[in-house]
Amino acid sequence: MKKHLTKLMDLTKEDILNILNLADQMKRDLKNNKDHKVLSGKTLAMIFKKPSTRTRVSFETGMYQLGGQALFLSANDLQFAQGESIRDTAQALSRYVDGIMLLAIEQEDVESLAQWSTVPVINGLSNFSHPCQILADLMTIREHKGALEDVRLAYIGDGSNVCNSLIVGGLLCGLKISVAVPEGFDPHPDVLTFVKEFTNRNPDDFLLTRKPQLAVEKANVLVTNRWASVGQEFDEDDRKETFADFQINNNILDLADPKAMVLHCLPAYRGEEISSEVFETHANSIFDAIENRLHVQKAIMALLMGS
Ligand code: CP
Repeated sequence: MKKHLTKLMDLTKEDILNILNLADQMKRDLKNNKDHKVLSGKTLAMIFKKPSTRTRVSFETGMYQLGGQALFLSANDLQFAQGESIRDTAQALSRYVDGIMLLAIEQEDVESLAQWSTVPVINGLSNFSHPCQILADLMTIREHKGALEDVRLAYIGDGSNVCNSLIVGGLLCGLKISVAVPEGFDPHPDVLTFVKEFTNRNPDDFLLTRKPQLAVEKANVLVTNRWASVGQEFDEDDRKETFADFQINNNILDLADPKAMVLHCLPAYRGEEISSEVFETHANSIFDAIENRLHVQKAIMALLMGS
C-alpha cells in the first residue's frame, strides 16, 4: 500500500481487501471490548475546509480508540486562511504530527498536501474522491451480501466524488457497476478512462446511462448522494429540475433485485435524491455504512500510521 490515501485509484484490490479485513477484525474486537492501541502516543491532524459531522467524529473517535489523539483544525483558523501555502503547511505539520487527514474541497489540495508531507495523508473528502466512505460502503455490502464479487451496484444521481470512488472501488473489487446520471453530470473523465482500461476484457462490468430504470435492473445495491455535491451548492435550484427523475424511490426500487440494499453517505435530502419511504425502510443498511466509516478509518490509520 502507498504511503498516502488520496484516492482509490492508488489502491490495488489486495490493498482494499487488507483494509476491509482489518476493519472487520477491529469491529468485532471493539464489540468484544478488545483494545487495538496500535497508535499509542501518536497524533492525527484533521484539517477541515468545510463543516462535517461523520468525518470529524469518526476520525476523532477512531484515533482515541487506537490509543492516539486527534487535533481538530478548521482551515479558517489556520494560516491557510491568510494565504500560507499547502507546501509550507504540510512541511510544518509533518514536524509535529504522525498523520494528516484533510477534508478538502479541491482534490489538488489533497495531492499537494501528500506531495509535501513526510507523514501519511488521508483524503477525508474532496470534489473528486471520497475514498473512506466508499471503503465503508464496500465493507457494508460484504457484510450484508456475504461477498463483493459479481454484486450488481447501481448509482443514481450526480457523477460526484461518491460516484467516482464507487466506480473505481467497485470495479477493483469485482462488482458490476451501472451509473445513471443526467447529461452533463458524468463521472470525472479520469474515472471514465480508468473504466475503459479496467473493463477492456469485460465491457459488461460497467454501464453509463441516462435512464435510472435501466441502471437498476437486477441491482443488488442502490446508492445515491445529494444532488448538489461539495463546492456545487451555488446552482442547487437548477439541479433540482435537472435531477428530478434521478430519485431512488419505490418505483425505481421495484425494478431492482427484491432483496436490494440501499446506501447513502449522508447528509440525505429526503424527497430529493431519495424518497422518505425508501430512506426509512433502508435506514439499517444506510447507518451500518455510516458506522463502518469508524472501522475502515481505524484500519487505514493503523496501516498507514502504525509502526
Ligand atoms: N458523508 C460525510 O462525509 O459526512 P460529513 O460531511 O458529515 O463528514
